[in-house]
Amino acid sequence: MRFGVLTGGGDCPGLNPAIRAVVLRATEGGDEVLGFRDGWKGVRDDLTRPLAPADVRDLIGRGGTILGTSRTNPFAKADDAEKVLRTLRQERIDALVAIGGDDTLTAARELVRRGGQVVGVPKTMDNDVAGTDWTFGFHSATAVAVDALERLRDTAGSHHRAIVLEVMGRQAGWVALATGLAGGADATLVPEQPYDEDALLRHVRAAVAARGYALVVASEGIDLGARPGSTGARDEFGHELLRERQVGAELAERIRAATGVETRSAQIGHIQRGGSPDLFDRILATRLGAHAVDLARAGRFGEVAVLRGERVEGIPLDEAVGTSKTVPPEWLDLLRTFDA
Ligand code: F6P
Repeated sequence: MRFGVLTGGGDCPGLNPAIRAVVLRATEGGDEVLGFRDGWKGVRDDLTRPLAPADVRDLIGRGGTILGTSRTNPFAKADDAEKVLRTLRQERIDALVAIGGDDTLTAARELVRRGGQVVGVPKTMDNDVAGTDWTFGFHSATAVAVDALERLRDTAGSHHRAIVLEVMGRQAGWVALATGLAGGADATLVPEQPYDEDALLRHVRAAVAARGYALVVASEGIDLGARPGSTGARDEFGHELLRERQVGAELAERIRAATGVETRSAQIGHIQRGGSPDLFDRILATRLGAHAVDLARAGRFGEVAVLRGERVEGIPLDEAVGTSKTVPPEWLDLLRTFDA
């Protein structure tokens, strides 16, 4: 077979190990792999690079993606869809492995509907793809945020301040939840829970009274109402660029105004997305990349490789896309236990 592989959407740790797994699994069985550059843009515009085992063997610990990525929606224009199909014919691709989050996998499903032979691999630091227990990228990216919170603890304690750490994650609170739990925040705000300013101020006051400082983790996706200065800019898939809303800075200002405690905010942003994938993400990306090749060889196009418990398996793309996996109530209940 001749495989194509692309990485689309926001980069995250684990993409390179996933590409590596696709290439090594495919070539082990005598198949060829062609890489498409910059996500769906590369398929639309026929931007390619051959991928041989020597190109990927050392990628297990490398962050980012050697293929590049983009947030190009290949079905935004009627002409583009035709270009995608033409490229796949011209490049003689028998199976395309699309590695990405909800947007990339939704485009993969659309391509399957138009006759494309595609299998998916879910990734995202947001951990919000339905149908899989975890997505790779999440553990590594969140560990960076936990490290940041620990650093903020030192400086908050020294200055007797409150500090708000704003983390990414879009409309799902997984990154904030795990950062708050693993980093020992005094209050953690996630989009799944309506914003409660009284509760936030109570936790900050309690923490400051107990030990002189307070740490708050806020997901970029929480709703504080419209903010002056926010442009409402959106990407090609229609997602608002949430970091521009700067909810962390807004929260810091509200905390300072209400409590009189000197307060700062930090927005970790894209620092979270870079760096070497951790153990969990290396193994998960490796298993899913290899499984996607197995799915394609079995003719199971239109499926996506996922993690369910201890097993990796294929499920229909329909079960993975369209709905975001958000934080369920039992996690929110656990989180509340650790508020100050
Ligand atoms: O989906 C991953 C993510 O990092 C989100 O958490 C964040 O809102 C978004 O991407 C940022 O997008 P961009 O890299 O286009 O600024």
